[in-house]
Amino acid sequence: MHRQMNIVILTGAGISAESGVPVFRGPDGLWEGHRVEDVATPEAFEANPELVHRFYNQRRAKLLDPAIQPNAAHLALARLEKESAAHVLLITQNIDDLHERAGSENLLHLHGELLKSRCTTCGNVAPLLAETSTSSKCQACGNIGTLRPHIVWFGEMPFHLEEISSALRAADWFVSIGTSGNVYPAAGFVSLASHAGARTLELNLDPSQTSDSFQESRLGPATQLVPAWVNEILG
Ligand code: APR
Repeated sequence: MHRQMNIVILTGAGISAESGVPVFRGPDGLWEGHRVEDVATPEAFEANPELVHRFYNQRRAKLLDPAIQPNAAHLALARLEKESAAHVLLITQNIDDLHERAGSENLLHLHGELLKSRCTTCGNVAPLLAETSTSSKCQACGNIGTLRPHIVWFGEMPFHLEEISSALRAADWFVSIGTSGNVYPAAGFVSLASHAGARTLELNLDPSQTSDSFQESRLGPATQLVPAWVNEILG
């Protein structure tokens, strides 16, 4: 009997670009008007928590705009998980919820989630649709001013690394979609998967920093490349 094939997929900002969520490192990148160090580090939150709350409140409001919807690439990956005989694990660097809305279930958010808060006192993680500020109250412990975005900032440890490392060691396919390969550890996943013998494929608009590490690299918009690749896999 054949063992089940393992497909591990990594996504980045590029998969959500055609849904209207701006990428990080483009001309109209998300950081426009802010230096990354001013909004996405623990030091920034310590120095100016109101600014950091405001920055994420704006991003959350934008994500909740009804115009922002999963696109054909998100939907194709959800379909792959449902219809393929393979075991499909989706790892996303994105903090949006477009993979969930498209129907993906076996999904890990490496860099956290925009629609969740975390209490710095009791550690409670809670769904979050409203705005937060330095006077928000933790629903679990009742403390005021202890909520922060449930986001992995620069200098913090990404989530789920042990599970991801085991999955990469067992991967038959590693596919990276819409990521520039600038941020580690995600940028190193292709090497781990390659060493484990996986077939590696990159689907991206432009060549990434790590394109040379992939056996195959296809250039184009995710809404075209991803459904086409999923159709190939599903035969
Ligand atoms: N289809 C496919 N790829 C696209 C598309 C598209 N429509 N539009 C843009 N891209 C590609 C770009 O060519 C680029 O290589 O997506 C990539 C986006 O790169 P970044 O903006 O650097 O985003 P990402 O790689 O996800 O960033 C990684 O950096 O700031 C941190 O934590 C943040 O998770 C983020 C991490």
